[in-house]
Amino acid sequence: MASVTLENVIKRYGDLQAVHGVDLEIRDGEFMVLVGPSGCGKSTTLRMIAGLEAISEGTCRIGDRVVNDVPPQRRNIAMVFQNYALYPHKSVRENIVFGLKRAKTEPAEIHKRLAEAARMLRLEPYLDRKPAALSGGQRQRVAMGRAIVRDADVFLFDEPLSNLDAKLRHDMRTEIRRIHKNYGTTSIYVTHDQVEAMTLADRVVVMRDGWIEQVGRPMDIYLHPANLFTATFIGAPSMNILDGTLDADGVHLGSHTLPVPPAKQAVAAAALEAGGGRARPIKIGIRPDFFEDCAFATMGPNSVRLDGLRVEIVEPLGFDREITFHIGESSAMARLDLRSDIAEDSTIDLCVDLERVHFFDPDSGKNLELVA
Ligand SMILES: Nc1ncnc2c1ncn2[C@@H]1O[C@H](COP(=O)(O)OP(=O)(O)OP(=O)(O)O)[C@@H](O)[C@H]1O
Ligand SMILES: [Mg+2]
Repeated sequence: MASVTLENVIKRYGDLQAVHGVDLEIRDGEFMVLVGPSGCGKSTTLRMIAGLEAISEGTCRIGDRVVNDVPPQRRNIAMVFQNYALYPHKSVRENIVFGLKRAKTEPAEIHKRLAEAARMLRLEPYLDRKPAALSGGQRQRVAMGRAIVRDADVFLFDEPLSNLDAKLRHDMRTEIRRIHKNYGTTSIYVTHDQVEAMTLADRVVVMRDGWIEQVGRPMDIYLHPANLFTATFIGAPSMNILDGTLDADGVHLGSHTLPVPPAKQAVAAAALEAGGGRARPIKIGIRPDFFEDCAFATMGPNSVRLDGLRVEIVEPLGFDREITFHIGESSAMARLDLRSDIAEDSTIDLCVDLERVHFFDPDSGKNLELVA
């Protein structure tokens, strides 16, 4: 096992710069997920670590070794791709042990590792089949098996689950967690699916347009997003972003006024002072999950009430129901539970804990809590 360190890593394709100077340390044994929209440079970053793309500038280390000029097969990594990349004419068994045979591993050792991987991935009944006779999920498990038996320092995954249906994706996610728990191999996992990122990662790297927007543990990013981009990218349904006005009395949202909570008073005062004390526009972020129906809320010291909100749409989801309502000029969503038996076109009183409310600078998009 090993750590992976990127120092100011840049990737250029001709005139296009796809990755703009990434600094990142993936710790020994860590499960790191790179997440972001299509084209943001996730695969390019992963492929530079794998040695499948040359690094234009900067340094990549695996353990203490600089690997910029080390070919992929000498980096002691195992990679799992979206399209599985299995040999169609070889059996499951041969696909899994191919790399070991090529590396002239002892037959007894090959047998032992194959047996262990097949057991772990529940592939024992399929060892003699060809990939064409397997389901998508089974093929993905074979690709995982091939990586596991290699005893690599680092596992690299590029969207390994995106060809599977929702149920299988969920099962394989659990499988991948189990494998990581058992083997503890340093893993770097690329996905554009924020649910995969949240559920699998020790830490998440949120990328956009070749830049890192935020690095942190999933729940830290969820609760303390650094900016509007990570706030809306991580978490489903997405965080509500509402247009408000900040002045000395607090934050105004239509006819509602939210006092500035103690933890943010210094930042709010500084923001007002920077504008010569004039009221200034502000973006207010509230996750749908942090609204509560006042009828059932336990009011804490920082809770505020937003009374008489007009409910437009109610979408029951079983235990939860999502309601779309109007506040000020904006439309927002709240996720309540089935106790709130609310009808469309009625009104509701919602409560929210001010500690859960984010204030973003409308120009820079930065979370004012974090730039203090
Ligand atoms: N071989 C290449 N030549 C030129 N440009 C490339 C090449 N490979 C990738 N790019 C560009 O680099 C940028 C980053 O691509 P990359 O494949 O890393 O994105 P990604 O985050 O993995 O996206 P996706 O989620 O769609 O897989 C994109 O703008 C892409 O068009
Ligand atoms: Mg990609």
